[in-house]
Amino acid sequence: MHNIYIAGTGIWHPKEKISNDEIVNSYNSYVEKFNKDNKSNIDNGIVQSMEFSSAEFIEKASGIKSRYVIDKEGILDINRMMPRVNNEHPDRLSVHAEVGIQAAKKAMNQAKVTSNEIDAVIVGTSHAARNYPAVAIEIQKELGINGYAYDMLVGCSSTTFAINNAYSDIASGLANTILVINPEISTPALNFTHRDKHFIFGDGCAATIVQKDSTSDKAFKIIDRKLHTQFSNNIRSNYSYLNRAAVDTKSNEDLLFHQNGRGVFKDVCPLVASLISNQLDKNNIAPKDISKFWLHQANGKMIRLITSKILGTDDFDESITPMPITEFGNLASVGSLFAFNLNNDLSKGEKGVICSFGAGYSVCSIIVEKS
Ligand code: COA
Repeated sequence: MHNIYIAGTGIWHPKEKISNDEIVNSYNSYVEKFNKDNKSNIDNGIVQSMEFSSAEFIEKASGIKSRYVIDKEGILDINRMMPRVNNEHPDRLSVHAEVGIQAAKKAMNQAKVTSNEIDAVIVGTSHAARNYPAVAIEIQKELGINGYAYDMLVGCSSTTFAINNAYSDIASGLANTILVINPEISTPALNFTHRDKHFIFGDGCAATIVQKDSTSDKAFKIIDRKLHTQFSNNIRSNYSYLNRAAVDTKSNEDLLFHQNGRGVFKDVCPLVASLISNQLDKNNIAPKDISKFWLHQANGKMIRLITSKILGTDDFDESITPMPITEFGNLASVGSLFAFNLNNDLSKGEKGVICSFGAGYSVCSIIVEKS
């Protein structure tokens, strides 16, 4: 029987970084201007005044201290409050392809794999750059890869679901080596004028080589996969190709990322903790034998709570739950892969869990073992 491995990973993030103080200063200046511009309507009770944000709240509620973004100036400009991007255009690379290729080259290098050894490319993301042609096919062409390529959308679980698809394709004999790419360019979909959300997302991308019988010294054997979905509107984007033709017009704000953060926290923590606990149990692995929990990076408290539920104690060494969220913010589906890429110096035989969760709801947990 063949084994299937995560043979190598690579990450990319933008150069520009925004601290909590910077994002709060910009937001609070926006609020000050809004309240001044709307003073008479606010005084008459027609318009509600906006409340100020605080860096202390952000760090305490989420664990986030900073985030890397594709356009700092546009986001912090209080007359814009969003990054400046170009429309998709046939004459230039999609931004998803551009960052995907950078992450892909690092993953290929780590896995010691060349383009002609790759049989397929799968791009998984929360926010598609366009409907078609697939970005994965664009990347396939740029990297000179044969075989097939496709895009898939599973919200904040797109990364692990894409790795799962790669595993299935390899296990069924369709391919031997698959390049998985997860560009998460989330800031264009984030409402930077919304107090509950303006601090959440950063931009980033990861790539993973999934391969049969890898001999890479960085390889982790995939031991088990567990997937679960259940419908919820608590994290939702109404953005669609239907928007242009819709007769019930929505504002631009309606088309952005929405979440009921408290609802997500309440629903998803127990769901993920029990899914991972059951998966470990089914595989006869004691939770204490897991060296790292590389979990979805939406909220530091969530990561700690889920880990403590799995371990049955909140007294654990925090290094077992890497938290790139502190520096990178929420990276949508690619947060767990950033956690993995930056903290996977395990010894042969040590095990870990890569698990993403979020919009859908969707959860995908992958148990791996260092080879
Ligand atoms: N600055 C200061 N105060 C703020 C604030 C801000 N930026 N945003 C909200 N507040 C206030 C609220 O008004 C609220 O005040 P109240 O208690 O008087 O009502 C209080 O702080 C708590 O707000 P709340 O939204 O309940 O905070 P929270 O502790 O639930 O944290 C999230 C908010 C979004 C960080 C948290 O719910 C979360 O991360 N949930 C999980 C989301 C998730 O997994 N999403 C997946 C997407 S990939």
